Amino acid sequence: MKGQERVATILKADEPDALARAAEALDAGLLVAIPTETVYGLAADATNGEAVAGIFEVKGRPRFNPLIAHVASLEMAQSIGVFDETAVALARRFWPGPLTIVVPLKPDTAIHPLVTAGQDTVALRMPRGFGAALVARMGRPVAAPSANRSGRISPTSAEAVAADIGDRIALIIDGGAAPVGVESTIVRVEDNVVRLLRPGGVAAEEIEAMGLTVRRNAPGAAVEAPGMLASHYAPAAQVRLNAIRVNPGEALLAFGPDRAAGHETAAAVLNLSPDGNLAEAAANLFAHLHALDKADAAMIAVEPIPATGLGEAINDRLARAAAPRHGAGARSED
Ligand code: TXA
Ligand code: MG
Repeated sequence: MKGQERVATILKADEPDALARAAEALDAGLLVAIPTETVYGLAADATNGEAVAGIFEVKGRPRFNPLIAHVASLEMAQSIGVFDETAVALARRFWPGPLTIVVPLKPDTAIHPLVTAGQDTVALRMPRGFGAALVARMGRPVAAPSANRSGRISPTSAEAVAADIGDRIALIIDGGAAPVGVESTIVRVEDNVVRLLRPGGVAAEEIEAMGLTVRRNAPGAAVEAPGMLASHYAPAAQVRLNAIRVNPGEALLAFGPDRAAGHETAAAVLNLSPDGNLAEAAANLFAHLHALDKADAAMIAVEPIPATGLGEAINDRLARAAAPRHGAGARSED
């Protein structure tokens, strides 16, 4: 890619010049992989069309699939999107944090139309940590999808980013393991109605606890977050859900204190959370899937995981990993 080095420099997030170097690279129209509390993001200046185009190129992502614009404040978000009372309440309650709010796009903002894929809505999120500091320093929105190639598992460490796209970008900021471990929850808010487009790091129950109703699409309804098509996060191995027994040679993704029958003959076993803690399970999900995939078993059997709280996001990602694969050309994940 023009202007991008072949092998990325990896810089620890707490090094004194990490923020300045990342901001300089973004200012120069380059791409930088950054840690956020959910997963690592592949960041570009959201107002620079060429830089944003680079994201689609590096990920091999279809251009009809819009990106999240990361902001440093509710005020910055409101300069880009139309926030009704409910959207403001959600931002106040969950920002900074793993909630993305899709709202109507204001006319004539500096956001490049590639970010929204030309739609009249925009997805906005204020992250925690390095990502937030970087956007604040830039003083303008930063577009960042997960820092993986399309169709691969979202990275929760700098090493995972380097292994997947390290030969395609200039700089990776290493902030250690991403604490939440699954992507942000995405809600669409318009006319004070909240619709869940993607379960994620904020449990729907937490939104309902504010006295709001969270609408879900009926199964099989049209996909509203264009990146949410079925086959996604595809490991090389096949994935089998709700396994109560393990067949010889399968790898086992375990959860909680009790093991599925036949676990003794598994090719490899990793436990998402021996105590059955869903937050811990979410934080371990992608790294464990990745590690089990490397065990070279043809099948990863997954023990049942409760669908409540963060379990909704975990089960959603696992269902995508288990879904029948599209042909490479037909892929539409992010
Ligand atoms: O936690 C996260 O959300 C991470 C970190 C890096 O912030 N980002 C992330 O981005 O997961 P990405 O691009 O991998 O997923 C964003 C999702 C896609 O499914 C996309 O289709 C959807 O958000 N999306 C973006 N803009 C949208 C819009 N205007 N309307 C509906 N869906 C939208
Ligand atoms: Mg993604």
